[in-house]
Amino acid sequence: MCGIVGVTGVSKALPYLLQGLQKLEYRGYDSAGVYLTDGAGQDAFIKEKGRVSQLAAKAEKNGFEGTAGIAHTRWATHGNVSIENAHPQKSADNRFYLVHNGVIENYQELKDIYLNNVTLVSQTDTEIAVQLVAKFAAEGMTTEAAFRKMISLLAGNSAYGFLLIDQQEPETLYAAKKKSPLLVGLSDHGNAVTSDATAMIDLTKEFIDLQDGDLAIVKPDQVTIYDEQEQKVDRPSFTLTIDPEDTDKGAYPYYMLKEIDEQAVVTRKIAGHYFGENGELQGIGCAITDKMAEADRLYIVAAGTSYHAGLVGKRYFEQWANLPTEVHIASEFAYDQPKLSDKPFFIFLSQSGETADSREVLDNIKKQGYPALTIANVMNSTLTREADFALPLLAGPEIAVASTKAYTAQILVQAILASALGEPGFDLKAELAKVAVEIQAITDEKEVFQQIAADALTDQRSAFYLGRGLDAAVALEAALKLKEISYIQTEGFAAGELKHGTISLIEEGTPVFALLTQSKTAGLLRGEVAQVAARGAKTFIFASKDLAKEGDAFVLPQVQELLMPLLAVIPAQLIAYYATLARDLDVDRPRNLAKSVTVQ
Ligand code: G6P
Repeated sequence: MCGIVGVTGVSKALPYLLQGLQKLEYRGYDSAGVYLTDGAGQDAFIKEKGRVSQLAAKAEKNGFEGTAGIAHTRWATHGNVSIENAHPQKSADNRFYLVHNGVIENYQELKDIYLNNVTLVSQTDTEIAVQLVAKFAAEGMTTEAAFRKMISLLAGNSAYGFLLIDQQEPETLYAAKKKSPLLVGLSDHGNAVTSDATAMIDLTKEFIDLQDGDLAIVKPDQVTIYDEQEQKVDRPSFTLTIDPEDTDKGAYPYYMLKEIDEQAVVTRKIAGHYFGENGELQGIGCAITDKMAEADRLYIVAAGTSYHAGLVGKRYFEQWANLPTEVHIASEFAYDQPKLSDKPFFIFLSQSGETADSREVLDNIKKQGYPALTIANVMNSTLTREADFALPLLAGPEIAVASTKAYTAQILVQAILASALGEPGFDLKAELAKVAVEIQAITDEKEVFQQIAADALTDQRSAFYLGRGLDAAVALEAALKLKEISYIQTEGFAAGELKHGTISLIEEGTPVFALLTQSKTAGLLRGEVAQVAARGAKTFIFASKDLAKEGDAFVLPQVQELLMPLLAVIPAQLIAYYATLARDLDVDRPRNLAKSVTVQ
């Protein structure tokens, strides 16, 4: 979603800011802007709708590069996509420039109370914030005091990451955060502020993670941080271990394809991390397993693809660890909490660790005193920090908006965790080695899926994925992959439910993909495929080796049946990729979507 970068004390600010914004592009945005100063009275203020490359063209034409500046990618919430609504927002007196991630809940009220005589030029809540700072400064406050006062007026639930420049102190960046990530980057040739450390790796790898309520004053050679109680604090810095190549596409045309291909390696990496040489489990502290063992029910809470991974994980916790498990959509659970068991234990599944819907649930259940574990790809993210326990997904940076390797990683880590609590009945470590080999075998057959996409989806407006049991869970994820990037309306369906209404949508040529990997229901599912075929559907069965029959579209290698989701999802990811490519759409950056959804 929205992204923030800022630098001060560098020889040329613009290139750092533009590269930073480019690195944040994957998160999703619809406009971008930059404010630059040079400490000698010159400045430039440039905003543009659309891509960062369009902003870059405009900024390069302007020619001014500055030695300090702030920049932002905006994903519209308050107000439509327009140059006026893009950030930075500036005060009417042209003194203050502000970028902001998050939502100010009481912005209308603040406007009515404080800004009646100010003419606003945008529809954003951010403009209210910057006008407030200017008003308080005009009344005689220092910039720091005015910034603080504005923050103190925000409603308790407001989430924010703010980065402010005062034109009268052009080398100082004022940063503050609550519930929205913000880091200070440190280097000998200038300092930075960013919402995502990877955006600033061209300047530095050393960062300080600001905590909720912190306010930081960042100068070229000095950083001062105050906590919520306005006390000066020393926050430890850390060195980002990320390899710049991890965030590079390399020879791949799109990140999504790279990330699909990485799933075999990620499987090995996860197994290597969580299993010792002799097959013993490691990396999951007893504190986690002891607490989980005390629970009478697990509640998995997540959004999007992570929710779908939870539906698969449920099976492992129930079957291997004998723990009843419910899987919930975070945005629903947050405002309609179901009746909980006596001793619940919560698992938050998240690629980013920043999803606002999940954070809301974590906040709620913490207030009720329940224990929680976050399983996330981005460690040090809000959800990992605020839960009692955290486990890493180890999938490496996932840049494409459509999640692929984080999904398989989430299934893998849940399987390993469930095996720590119970007994899978087979050698999980050995089986995961096989899974890695077979994922590779499937991704090696890309032409098959490219051909299926060409045969089935060239001019279709809708499609279906069917399955039963675990295959029904994977069908939901398969359908999400196809619809979110190709814009083909796709439903994932528990096949038995089809006849209760949805089968009426089947027309001549409607593509129906069936995932058939569960022996108990294979016969029934074949029957359902026959029913839709009899009504004109173009059917494709992806069956596991043990259940395959002549005429199936693809035979999936056989691994333990409960681990088949790890293989069954791969064809769906590749079909979504190729169908989207064939439509000449941006595979990595589908319209309207954001990678990390930090607003509710
Ligand atoms: C967004 C992303 C999805 C992701 C979902 C949940 O919608 O586009 O790919 O599954 O958020 O995000 P999380 O980071 O919590 O897994």
